[in-house]
Amino acid sequence: MDNRDINLNTNIGRLIIENPIITASGTFGFGREYEEFMDIANIGAISVKGLTLKPRKGNKSPRIAETVGGMLNSVGLENPGVEYFIDKELPYLKDKNITIIANISGNTIEEYCEMAARIDKSRCDAIEMNISCPNVKRGGVAFGTDKDMVYRITKSVRDSTEKPLIVKLSPNVTDIKEIALMAEKAGADGLSLINTLLGMAIDIKTKKPILRNNVGGLSGPAIKPIALRMVWEVAQVVKIPIIGMGGIMNITDVIEFLLAGASAVAIGTGNLVNPRLTVELLVELKKYMQKNNIKDVSEIIGKLEIYSS
Ligand SMILES: Cc1cc2nc3c(=O)[nH]c(=O)nc-3n(C[C@H](O)[C@H](O)[C@H](O)COP(=O)(O)O)c2cc1C
Repeated sequence: MDNRDINLNTNIGRLIIENPIITASGTFGFGREYEEFMDIANIGAISVKGLTLKPRKGNKSPRIAETVGGMLNSVGLENPGVEYFIDKELPYLKDKNITIIANISGNTIEEYCEMAARIDKSRCDAIEMNISCPNVKRGGVAFGTDKDMVYRITKSVRDSTEKPLIVKLSPNVTDIKEIALMAEKAGADGLSLINTLLGMAIDIKTKKPILRNNVGGLSGPAIKPIALRMVWEVAQVVKIPIIGMGGIMNITDVIEFLLAGASAVAIGTGNLVNPRLTVELLVELKKYMQKNNIKDVSEIIGKLEIYSS
């Protein structure tokens, strides 16, 4: 089979992307930082660093701690604010014809809606609503762990924008399915899962937590089995597409997430280990499909064969 016969197009609701490899928010900046390593226009879509209504300095250092099979971060949404992004970063990216997903976080429903309304008028292709950041004192995670709140906030943001709306879920909940169903009911076009899991690291010499914030979000290969399980569980109950993420480091991980039911995957911590990982995985995905005579990526999505008893 020729490379040109392979179709990698996938869709997240109304958002159509050229290939299913996306960057996970907060691990790829605004894309430009990675330009020296590759042609960033090859990436299916870039979910940019989390944006807030006003610029944020983020949390105090240390904000990163290495753990077995992963890392903890408590960056706390350091960013220059949504207006700066739209004026200064977005035109450059869109002139390169890159699909851009604006990742937003707020302290109140009104803040989320205001950001969505501003992005609605911009050249962004979609909005990813982060209701799951574990490192911000107010708002954030509280929205993502209460199913009625998930409905209210998704519905309000839905009414504030015509753009495709992706809701990014928190894994720090008892039943991810009921949260996912609420986001779907309120009008989400797609779901991203998972965000980081709340964790902790301790320095026994100082008897203090390693992170200045005491706790942080765990990401990387350590969380992959949990992420896979959640993607699979949610894919069973919702009709809207899922962007799967959590510890994806190689092509096997990518295929596992697609089989579990993700229509696209996002690379997070992997970018920090290998800045070229996204483009390398794209090449690997084509090779995998060619080798296995798979013409269309949709032939892999959700094709997990589970045991029935
Ligand atoms: C340093 C860092 C910063 C992050 N910042 C954001 C953010 O601003 N918004 C967001 O929705 N997720 C953020 N995340 C979560 C990632 O997008 C992703 O959901 C998570 O890390 C799981 O994927 P991974 O294991 O491949 O890193 C961040 C993760 C890391 C490691």
